[in-house]
Amino acid sequence: MGGSSVLETFVRRRHGGGMPSVLKNATLLLLSRTIVRGHALLGDPAARLLGMSPTRDPYPDYESVRERGPVVKSKMGLYLTASHELCDSLLRDPGFGQLAAGELSPIDSVAHIGPRRLVNPVEDSFLMLNPPDHTRLRRLVSPWFTPRGLRDQVATVERVVEEYLDEVAGRPTFDLVGDFAARVPIQVIADLLGVPDADHAAFARWGSALVNALDGVRDLKELRALHNGLREFEEFLDGLIDHRRRHPGDDVVSRLVANEDLRREDLIATTELLLVAGFETTVNLIGNAVLAVLAHPEVRERLLDDPGCAEAVVEETLRLDPPVQYTVRTPFETTEVAGTSVPRGTPIMLLLAGANRDPAVFADPHRFRPGRPDGREHLAFSAGIHYCLGANLARMEGAAALRGLFRRFPDLRAAGRVRRRPSRVIRGPERFPVSTGAAENRPMVEIIS
Ligand code: HEM
Repeated sequence: MGGSSVLETFVRRRHGGGMPSVLKNATLLLLSRTIVRGHALLGDPAARLLGMSPTRDPYPDYESVRERGPVVKSKMGLYLTASHELCDSLLRDPGFGQLAAGELSPIDSVAHIGPRRLVNPVEDSFLMLNPPDHTRLRRLVSPWFTPRGLRDQVATVERVVEEYLDEVAGRPTFDLVGDFAARVPIQVIADLLGVPDADHAAFARWGSALVNALDGVRDLKELRALHNGLREFEEFLDGLIDHRRRHPGDDVVSRLVANEDLRREDLIATTELLLVAGFETTVNLIGNAVLAVLAHPEVRERLLDDPGCAEAVVEETLRLDPPVQYTVRTPFETTEVAGTSVPRGTPIMLLLAGANRDPAVFADPHRFRPGRPDGREHLAFSAGIHYCLGANLARMEGAAALRGLFRRFPDLRAAGRVRRRPSRVIRGPERFPVSTGAAENRPMVEIIS
């Protein structure tokens, strides 16, 4: 999530100062693509990761980074690590922080286009801030996401799961992602924030545009879609905030609005972050978990015998195939990392999904084994001060979705080609046709780009 296109940031640093325009963005897009492809051809590990087709299996690339050593330097001027120990310690190190501080990143430059700078839900939110601003803003919303704060949510989440299962129950096939996995987390986070049901579809659209942009914007069409999405999202939240000021409810936005010390930009960015982070990741957790269960019949049997093991299935999915594949940190001062000097301000890509398969921590790391003794040691939710605020909620939603889904459809099977999300930062199916019918002729899960 903190990994907005690292490479483009670099190209911008070197070639793209000043006020961004659509034309300058387009030039930088082209330049960055050409540079990555060139370096990838020469075998550069970062270029291979950033330049590969976003739907390709990334796990062999993480292994090749691991083989080269704990910290690998890329010709593109950044560093990478797939070591669990290093990822964990750098995420907790106060000497390292978020890249966004003072940087011109892809989403940020799109936010600058036009007469007025738009609020940027990734870069302006506390996800990308360093202390003390990070601490101040995170503290405002954390009470809702503690186990205690979420106690009342358990029944709500289960009800939402059942409602959406009711909707698909009469149909022989449905899209696991669009008809179920995306709808549950959207409903849950929207209810928590007080977003009316009628607006879910629009905000799912803005969320996807933003998440896809984490990888960098591919063309002018995407750039315009992102800019329009940012504008519409902000206008929508201005309206919601205004409404909640006049008609306060029992939701997060109403409570934030009541805080008079909070600037409008912080209020909008915080709400946007919660909305986007609240569903764009969990949808992939549910999708990846169902993919894993369908590929492992023995796990399905266990889940049917004992729905309580849904928690372990969720945990193992987070380890083996996490929705957020990497994040980025930069040292505030030139720092020695595992014997390599990393210059001040230089990004290190922390390959969370690679760290989750580090054989130094996990035995037989590429195997899907729910209930493994060290199952919660993964870094799918990051670590340190930016540790995912919604981790408890995501785990709860993931387990409730799996329990409900397989209880209702014990013979659930793939019913067509799975299309993956076109992103390297966020991993999960974008379209996943499933059939609720009997188990005969169960086809293998087939995945395409
Ligand atoms: C499976 C689902 C999820 C995954 C894999 C996930 C993953 C992550 C990761 C890796 C980070 C830290 C990024 C970094 O260190 O740079 C993060 C931060 C965050 N997540 Fe999640 N997340 C999930 C669900 C949620 C949910 C349901 C919410 C609900 C609101 C949420 C809210 C946040 C927030 C607010 C942050 C920023 C925390 C901070 O900067 O202090 N996430 N998440």
